[in-house]
Amino acid sequence: MSDIWGKLEACYADVKDRRILTLFDDAQRFAGFSARCDNLLLDYSKTNLDARSRALLIELATQFSVAERRNAMFSGEKINTSEGRAVLHTALRRQSDAPVMVDGADVMLEIWETRQRMTGFCESIRSGKILATDGGQFTDVINIGIGGSDLGPEMATRALAPYHDGPNCHFISNVDGAHAADTLKGLDPQRTLVIIASKTFTTIETMTNADTVVQWLKEGVGDNVSAHLAAVSSAPEKTAAFGVPDERLFSFGDWVGGRYSLWGPVGLPIMLAIGAERFSEFLAGADAMDQHFLHTPFERNLPVLLGLSGIWHRNICGYSTRVILPYDQRLNRFPAYLQQLDMESNGKGVTVNGAQLERESGPIIWGEPGTGGQHAFFQLLHQGTSVIPAEFLIAAEGHEPGLAHQHDLLKANCLAQSEALLVGRSLPANQRNTAARYFPGNRPSITLAYPKLTPYVLGQLIALYEHRVFVEGTIWGINSFDQWGVELGKELANDILPLIGGAPVADKDGSTVGLLEVLKN
Ligand code: F6P
Repeated sequence: MSDIWGKLEACYADVKDRRILTLFDDAQRFAGFSARCDNLLLDYSKTNLDARSRALLIELATQFSVAERRNAMFSGEKINTSEGRAVLHTALRRQSDAPVMVDGADVMLEIWETRQRMTGFCESIRSGKILATDGGQFTDVINIGIGGSDLGPEMATRALAPYHDGPNCHFISNVDGAHAADTLKGLDPQRTLVIIASKTFTTIETMTNADTVVQWLKEGVGDNVSAHLAAVSSAPEKTAAFGVPDERLFSFGDWVGGRYSLWGPVGLPIMLAIGAERFSEFLAGADAMDQHFLHTPFERNLPVLLGLSGIWHRNICGYSTRVILPYDQRLNRFPAYLQQLDMESNGKGVTVNGAQLERESGPIIWGEPGTGGQHAFFQLLHQGTSVIPAEFLIAAEGHEPGLAHQHDLLKANCLAQSEALLVGRSLPANQRNTAARYFPGNRPSITLAYPKLTPYVLGQLIALYEHRVFVEGTIWGINSFDQWGVELGKELANDILPLIGGAPVADKDGSTVGLLEVLKN
């Protein structure tokens, strides 16, 4: 194994001073360093990867058993070893009805049944067959959840705004009472359906917000709040104890991780907003990416190539962050969604066997939509001292035919930015501020281009990033499906809460003691 890393490092030593632009002396550079899944194009020609480094990276993926582990995941093996769980978010969007077995049972039966119940419920809310306590139709939906029970559905619901023909969806996640207060302001409890989404149904933020919103419902509709409630959870006894009727509970197995869960019941707000048919298109797009990941040779396999570009930039070039730049305003929550997907999955320091990692793992993920970011942090991307690989996302067509000229401007800006990163600019020495106006260029970027941000394309994009995280995690030898790193802070918050209320402070560091004094009630 170390040999292949050594070969990659030697390869980099040979090319690290090369200008990426010179790779385009080969007229076939774009064709040779881009790949497609349906009409979704991955262009990685503006990176320093060449045929030699790509071949070595593919050898690396082969040596680290990416194909074998991928097949194990899809077939329901318990690859989440620290929690003893299968990893089957792919089954939630599966278009074929071939069985997927976990512990001797076919999970597809449960998935189809739940999807049918979701469809029945959503279509009944949308059509007015299920009504509020006063006999009127639901016009608004509040989803209460956090992390995977919030970021995915909120991101996708916003992304698919042009397809909304159902109730308005709102999201409350933060335990900061401001989030609930601002969301409830202007909403009518009589017209509002509340979904409590929590896989565990114990998450303190979600349960606290649920109590707040149920109180608000009670004040508006009286004691019969259950007609205004639904729950998404893997803990049926807890949802029942909370007062959610069984027929309003939509469950999923422990083989779906929170940050991978929007394809099933956690996607309820998406289905309510766009309808079951469009939601099926969303699932079909993800399944198309799954089939591509399963069956396409690594040389043309989008998740593998995107993952390998990540390994190249992180481990070989030493870049510690990557920036996600959707030139698509409706993808404005996509960077935040990817932060959880990527950093909660691959922000780990030990292997599946508990050994310390010898190499860096997940990079810092950040980003904002273009063109806004251009007038903020792009300065650093172009002229800062760190090289930050950029990932652009852009549609050929927008959803506003009357504003096509604005979409042209958006596309021009997207291409201009990746060109500027690549080419840079130097000015003649006799001009004013020559040094300050110098752009080094030679900064790598990747572009994902698609026809239009439809439900199908969004499904493809999300599944692409999920599998990219998988490819990278597999090569690093880590378990991308647990998240023990979020536990300590939760436990300490429980310890600190009574201290905020005035209980005597013991065993705390000096800073915490000082801050408690400043923040005391
Ligand atoms: O704290 C992290 C986490 O467990 C995430 O992995 C998860 O998406 C989120 O909390 C919410 O968990 P739940 O759906 O159980 O409320």
